Amino acid sequence: MCGIIGITTGAAAVRADPGAASGDTFVDDASEHDGILGVLLEGLARLEYRGYDSAGLALVGMPDAGGLWRARAANGTRSLDDLVKRAADAPEGATAGIGHTRWATHGRPAEVNAHPHVDCSGRIGLIHNGIIENHVELADELIADGHHFESETDTEVLAHLVESALDTGRALGLADAVRSALGRVRGAFSLAVVHADEPDLIVAARRVSPLLMGVTGSAAFLASDVPAILGLTRDFFVLEDDQIAELRPGRLTVTAADGRQIEPARLHVDWDLEAARKDGYDEYMSKEMHEQPRAVADTLLDRVLPDGTLALDEVHITNEELRAVNKVFIVACGSSYHAGMMAKYAIEHWARLPVEIDIASEFRYRDPVLDPSTLVIGVSQSGETVDTFQAVREARRLGAKVLVISNVVDSSMAREADAVLYTRAGPEIGVASTKTHLAQIAALDILALYLAQARQTLSPADARALLRGMGEVPGKVAVALERSTDVEAVAGRYRDSPSFIFLGRQVGYPVALEGALKLKELSYLRAEGFPAGELKHGPIALVEPGTVVIGVATRTPIWEKMMGNVAEVKSRGATVVLVAGDGDEETARHADSVLWVPPTEHLFAPMVDVVPLQLFAYHLARLHGYDVDRPRNLAKVVTVE
Ligand code: M6R
Repeated sequence: MCGIIGITTGAAAVRADPGAASGDTFVDDASEHDGILGVLLEGLARLEYRGYDSAGLALVGMPDAGGLWRARAANGTRSLDDLVKRAADAPEGATAGIGHTRWATHGRPAEVNAHPHVDCSGRIGLIHNGIIENHVELADELIADGHHFESETDTEVLAHLVESALDTGRALGLADAVRSALGRVRGAFSLAVVHADEPDLIVAARRVSPLLMGVTGSAAFLASDVPAILGLTRDFFVLEDDQIAELRPGRLTVTAADGRQIEPARLHVDWDLEAARKDGYDEYMSKEMHEQPRAVADTLLDRVLPDGTLALDEVHITNEELRAVNKVFIVACGSSYHAGMMAKYAIEHWARLPVEIDIASEFRYRDPVLDPSTLVIGVSQSGETVDTFQAVREARRLGAKVLVISNVVDSSMAREADAVLYTRAGPEIGVASTKTHLAQIAALDILALYLAQARQTLSPADARALLRGMGEVPGKVAVALERSTDVEAVAGRYRDSPSFIFLGRQVGYPVALEGALKLKELSYLRAEGFPAGELKHGPIALVEPGTVVIGVATRTPIWEKMMGNVAEVKSRGATVVLVAGDGDEETARHADSVLWVPPTEHLFAPMVDVVPLQLFAYHLARLHGYDVDRPRNLAKVVTVE
């Protein structure tokens, strides 16, 4: 997601942390730019690894420039190079500044949407990480009050809310104005604000999205991630939800929502820069698996209205057009294909529409029958996978309506589509899809409910109950992740097995396929996924005493049939590992090892049930000494057919 950095020094110079490890030193690396500008540019460069599409910074306090100076660039991964060039024109003598790398969620990647955003006067500059859920209603209100907006972002409302609080006298100073503004917003955020009239001050706040701060000598600084400011200090202060921080040269004050001053929590970091980028986890994959609850929650955020109905503002297909849809095709590759398979069950069950699911590389070569009443859904983390891109393009050529689920805003596929629904998992660096896979399932589930709503195939009460259930998924995913050590112990038991069979039925079938894919790509072991009912039509010939069979055996409506298939392999000597719902001893009785998960409504269950299978593949690969972030022969984005 977005990266944040800010620093205030007043008139003093910036000094590096004398305790910084070699390679982490900061200010000395700041090349041609020193002082505040140097820290901001170096910090932004250190945030690049997170993925970004645009960047910007704002400075205040320059004696000869007055006001606030802002530079922004939106040139994909070259945005920072462009920003460095623009920074050559920065006026001398800034006393404070803020910088931002943007990973677009609301509003396409473009300079006008890059942060910092400013108020109408151009004297308040603000950067933000997260999502403001009620930005549309707030913007309407502010526009009616005479505010002028220049961007398509949710963030800009914050700058105008702060301005409004100051102008109307509702707030006495910048911190007070930020507090007043945040009282109006729903959603997740970390933010930093500067004001040309208070040039030594940075005000920061957070709810859900992280923010760290540091104070050394005459400087005070903040960042969304440790790497951005590692080297300036190793001792951080952590801002908690709904606290407000005021950073002044060499000074930090933190207050609670009610204005009471509090002592912020501390964090000492011994990591080097590379470890800091992984947030203390050993690998990106591990970090990204642990980001899954957030990825699902963010994907749901602001799409479920307070009255329990759904609003998908990126879907520019009218309800009337949706009602006219008589068939759905889903096209995707790899893990995205598995997410699509899960959605087939949800769309058919809730929206009562027939769904075909195609491997994208096969789709356009099979002469599919499409027309304007067909909806083709392309699912892709990157939005650049050439097979899916070509399938989507072919669907459009044949006159179908095309909707794309993408994790990257304005990706090639998003540009090709009639409508886009973005997953909000943040950039994924590990080659194995984990958090983006869960976010895809969440996005497809809300799309299925949206279709059901438009087609009136679900009663409002049933839809509300389902949405409530979906709201519990992030917490259940978090519980499944907490059991990583248990899964590691199970993986250890089977580390010498040369092959694995994965079984599932109904929505458990794509979960089994995904478990097998994760194991193959990370551990280089033979792992095959089958629909359990298909076993006796051939695959059961593979089962011999000691064959390890992993079954997804949480409670779907056809759990009994699944257990019948488990009995078939068990009676042929297989060693059985089952994914089972907490407390389900009846299932556990049939297993040699159990991977426990919190029970979940069966159409949402894939998001929870797949977690122990990801962990299983991850731990087994580590036990074999393999690099889980960069498995052999694989690329994160596949741009060749
Ligand atoms: O970017 P996409 O979602 O279109 O990528 C599709 C597949 O290459 C991808 O899901 C791949 O299977 C996973 N990285 C495997 O973990």
